[in-house]
Amino acid sequence: KKVVLAYSGGLDTSVILKWLQTTYGCEVVTFTADLGQGEELEPARKKAELLGIKPENIYIEDLRETFVKDFVFPMFRANALYEGFYLLGTSIARPLIAQRQIEIAKATGADAVAHGATGKGNDQVRFELGYYALKPDIKVIAPWREWDLTSRTRLIAFAEEHQIPIAKDKRGEAPFSVDANLLHISAEGKVLEDPWQEAEEYVYSRTVAPEQAPDKPTYVEVEFERGDAVAVDGKRMSPATLLTELNRLGGANGIGRLDLLEGRFVGMKSRGIYETPGGTILYVAHRGIEQITLDRGAMHLKDELMPRYAELIYNGFWFSPERKMLQAAIDQSQGPVTGTVRLKLYKGSVSVVGRKSPNSLYSLEHVTFEEDSVYDQRDAQGFIKLNALRLRLLNRQQS
Ligand code: ARG
Ligand code: SIN
Repeated sequence: KKVVLAYSGGLDTSVILKWLQTTYGCEVVTFTADLGQGEELEPARKKAELLGIKPENIYIEDLRETFVKDFVFPMFRANALYEGFYLLGTSIARPLIAQRQIEIAKATGADAVAHGATGKGNDQVRFELGYYALKPDIKVIAPWREWDLTSRTRLIAFAEEHQIPIAKDKRGEAPFSVDANLLHISAEGKVLEDPWQEAEEYVYSRTVAPEQAPDKPTYVEVEFERGDAVAVDGKRMSPATLLTELNRLGGANGIGRLDLLEGRFVGMKSRGIYETPGGTILYVAHRGIEQITLDRGAMHLKDELMPRYAELIYNGFWFSPERKMLQAAIDQSQGPVTGTVRLKLYKGSVSVVGRKSPNSLYSLEHVTFEEDSVYDQRDAQGFIKLNALRLRLLNRQQS
């Protein structure tokens, strides 16, 4: 029996690795992905080797470009926000990890996959819906739902018993749970569990406090082609490079902090602290380019579909037919979404201050307050009168 484990190299997944070997007696294949979390991957290889994983069973991959190009960008075409605020930084990474785990399971002849998400959260659902969609007969092992290592003390004792190296700062209770990738970093739990208590500054790691950000605004230009960002300040960049650059600009200006209390798919509410500096700029920039290129009807329909689309991603239904149907509609709308947006970054805020496009629908000759020769203001009278007809007849009913 062989299992592909989503392995970060950290203490918890190392304990899972050992637990899989000892409890299930199975051969473990480790999969460690660079999604831009900002950690070295080679220590994970060293640690896997130390825990007895054969070199051919250690998979370490840089997935940053795939992550941004095939997951983050399609989602940003939709302007997706969950419950009004959340840019879905964790949610959108899970289907990619699940997909690679299944591909590796197929390549190595493994019959099972395992992950380190708890039985209380969204991530277990996202991983496993991905697994089952891509390999319906896969066996799923979720140690946190099964084992008795339910306290830090027991987990540490298990690690010591099995010679798993423990970083000094990991012996005590971690102050909160973290998930990070190129799009965001999130913190949940422990010291953040009182939703009335403001998060301390040390929780934030990707953004300076808006109060500490420069007193002078930073201007940046983002160029789009067919709905996707392709250049920053005139420089063409690959998707992951571009998001990295927007993270740098956003982080330095205190942009993209969010303190959110959200409804998890399993039914409970949880409180999270998110930092999405580049994603927040990208979201505002994309809306800016849509303002000038998208027809009103297309835009308003997108905005109606968006909450549904965001909920599908939050709940882990990336591989569902309904997500793909919505994606097709969203992608179809993006044909003309090409041009440049100029943004002002200042102490935690990002605003569109200029936009231009070869596909502009903005017609100065129509909109001008000066005299024009293209629009007959007399047409508006009948337009309003017929729109008013219902209201006028209703008024008769009321009296
Ligand atoms: N609540 C967020 C979500 O469901 C983040 C979950 C993972 N974050 C964490 N710190 N473990 O997408
Ligand atoms: C977890 O429970 O593993 C993290 C939080 C979540 O998945 O919502």
